[in-house]
Amino acid sequence: MSTNTRFDLTGRVVIITGGAKGIGKVYAREFAAAGARVVAADIDGDAAAETAAQILAAGGEAIGVRTDVADEASTTAMAEATIAKFGTIDVLINNASLMSVLERRSWFDIPVEEWDRVMAVNLRGIFLCCRATFPEMRRKRFGKIVNISSSRVWEGVPNRLHYTTSKAGVIGLTRALSREVGEHGVTVNAVTPGYTLSDTQQATSSGNYLAMQSDGRAMGRPQYPEDLVGAVMFLSSAASDYMTGQTLNVDGGKAMH
Ligand SMILES: NC(=O)c1ccc[n+]([C@@H]2O[C@H](COP(=O)([O-])OP(=O)(O)OC[C@H]3O[C@@H](n4cnc5c(N)ncnc54)[C@H](O)[C@@H]3O)[C@@H](O)[C@H]2O)c1
Repeated sequence: MSTNTRFDLTGRVVIITGGAKGIGKVYAREFAAAGARVVAADIDGDAAAETAAQILAAGGEAIGVRTDVADEASTTAMAEATIAKFGTIDVLINNASLMSVLERRSWFDIPVEEWDRVMAVNLRGIFLCCRATFPEMRRKRFGKIVNISSSRVWEGVPNRLHYTTSKAGVIGLTRALSREVGEHGVTVNAVTPGYTLSDTQQATSSGNYLAMQSDGRAMGRPQYPEDLVGAVMFLSSAASDYMTGQTLNVDGGKAMH
């Protein structure tokens, strides 16, 4: 395999949860531009369909599938729709989460129901999406799972305690699951993005918060969704086939672990 081929995503079938908006939409667009066949799976079915339509209009291949990652029947249907359309599943990018919709507030003020819903989407959602897609990956002895965590875990960022806690869980899940599926040719890795100026994040952050976003970063500038694409593509390609259970931090050099 040549070096260039290792990074090639042409024809790969890639499910991107939360792929209709924010950073997930950028992954969907960029993977399609790299030749992948993309499934934008999102609880916002209209936005997922719109993302797929935009990819088709640009000459790429994509479908939108309304999916609630916290619901087992819905994740099973997501995997079935992917196989029905594209014949297989190569890559699962677990990007959906409850984040930008969460108020920033003291841990003491978080309603218990909100804590539970964050865990259901951000952790059970990954568990269910992995379970729904794994049988196809095991069958073909190839699969790449990329779990999106957050650099909040390294920094201990406060005021969304449930969110930060769930993202730490994503790293534990990544490590333990990698040991259960490695013998089947499936890799499981995580990425911890720094605070990223996705359209959804910008819409829900105050001016002061946005103004601080170059602080402490070696790169000296804010982070944009495009800054994450290379790392996620690497973990989705054959170039990372002997790397599993790992977590890549992509935050412009703020937290160094
Ligand atoms: N933007 C940041 O600063 C930042 C930093 C670190 C990590 N992250 C992580 O990166 C990922 C993308 O971030 P973003 O800024 O685009 O987030 P976002 O909140 O804007 O988007 C999340 C997406 O997930 C979808 N979604 C929510 N609940 C769902 C469910 N139950 N089933 C399916 N889809 C669901 C939403 O509709 C949306 O499209 C998330 O996992 C987030 O936690 C973001």
